Amino acid sequence: MLNFEFCSPTRFLFGKGTENKAGEMIKRYGGTKVLIHYGGGSVVRSGLLQRVKESLEQEGIEFLTLGGVQPNPRSGLVYQGIDLCRKENVDFILAVGGGSVIDSAKAIAAGTLMDCDFWEYWKVKKPITKALPVGTVLTIPAAGSEASPNSVITHEETLVKRGCAGEALRPRFSILNPELTFTLPAWQTASGASDIIAHVLERYFTNTKDVEVTDRLCEALLLTVIRETPRVIADPTCYEARASIMWAGALAHNNVVGVGREQDWATHAIEHELSALYDVTHGAGLAVLFPAWMTKALPHNPKLFATMATRIFGIQNTGDDAETGALGIQAWRDFFTSIGMPDNLRELGVKEEDFEYMANRLLLKPDGTLGNFVKLTPDDVVEIYKSCY
Ligand code: NZQ
Ligand code: ZN
Repeated sequence: MLNFEFCSPTRFLFGKGTENKAGEMIKRYGGTKVLIHYGGGSVVRSGLLQRVKESLEQEGIEFLTLGGVQPNPRSGLVYQGIDLCRKENVDFILAVGGGSVIDSAKAIAAGTLMDCDFWEYWKVKKPITKALPVGTVLTIPAAGSEASPNSVITHEETLVKRGCAGEALRPRFSILNPELTFTLPAWQTASGASDIIAHVLERYFTNTKDVEVTDRLCEALLLTVIRETPRVIADPTCYEARASIMWAGALAHNNVVGVGREQDWATHAIEHELSALYDVTHGAGLAVLFPAWMTKALPHNPKLFATMATRIFGIQNTGDDAETGALGIQAWRDFFTSIGMPDNLRELGVKEEDFEYMANRLLLKPDGTLGNFVKLTPDDVVEIYKSCY
């Protein structure tokens, strides 16, 4: 196990009715003038936004609202939010929605305190050290932004999608009421589940030896999401299954399952190119790309893939690790398609002629590669795109 420092200070309020404590939480963390940030309208239709506003009113907290965050959030609204926060002296940002809303809120929180364009940080992934405090009321378990120090934004002019990080971006509190996810369409539920799985797999495939505790925690999360996702697709109001997925989503990305081990993250970068150019739903892109990446990575450590196949899918080792690992990869493909995810890029509207362009836009490490478990060149990335086209 590698040395690590782990501090995940977000306070989680989990369960029915917890959104009514939003005002109380903001007061606890010192917010006096709040920007409530939300998306395209699901929180208006469900009545959640109204309940959250009432909760702030009860505490006598002043607020203004800024809606309209799109999935794969854009820089334009971030600039608008920054201007608003400066003009109105906002001192707390409350994100009510999914990962896109939370990420937009985090970018506004950081950008408000910068004396430069916020994109200067995002463009090169410069660590964020200062931001207004952010709280969240989560409506879709997926991105894990409710627990993570990350924010992923697409720059509108250049269509570059980049994630920026910094402990200052971790939410002070996150409110997780599984009932708020009952209204999710099956596509969003399945895309969210795929993203949660991907967050675990990015950590699971590692060159670090002997990390039993995090191996086993990763496996627990994967087994949970595999079991519970079909249940909520069949019955969207199944509270217990929704609850398990919601908590799994936070644990998958607050890094409790990633400490002490090298992590990969190539597949996420490869997917962000799809979301940036074609507005692909992030989790759906990952459902297509992850099995393709695994196939490329399999020869690097067939034993680890065989272990994954055995422990996650109960596949008997055939005596050949590479063969057993390949069966495990196929089991992932089958799982993703069983929950309604596509298994090729064409279905997502991606164009073959853009493969090289996308691969050459990736932010590479100084050695010219991407990823840690296996080091990919842009040519390898093109090969991966082709293999799942
Ligand atoms: O905009 P509204 O009307 O709210 O509709 C949203 C949106 O259309 C809808 N939705 C959300 N909750 C709902 C609901 N519809 C009905 N009922 C509900 N309860 O779902 C759609 C998708 O929402 P979005 O916020 O985009 O989903 P998600 O949480 O998957 O976020 C995706 C974004 O997060 C980034 C992705 O790249 C993508 O941009 N990520 C952020 C990470 C982070 N900050 O740590 C890590 C991830 O790897 C990821 O990259
Ligand atoms: Zn993700």
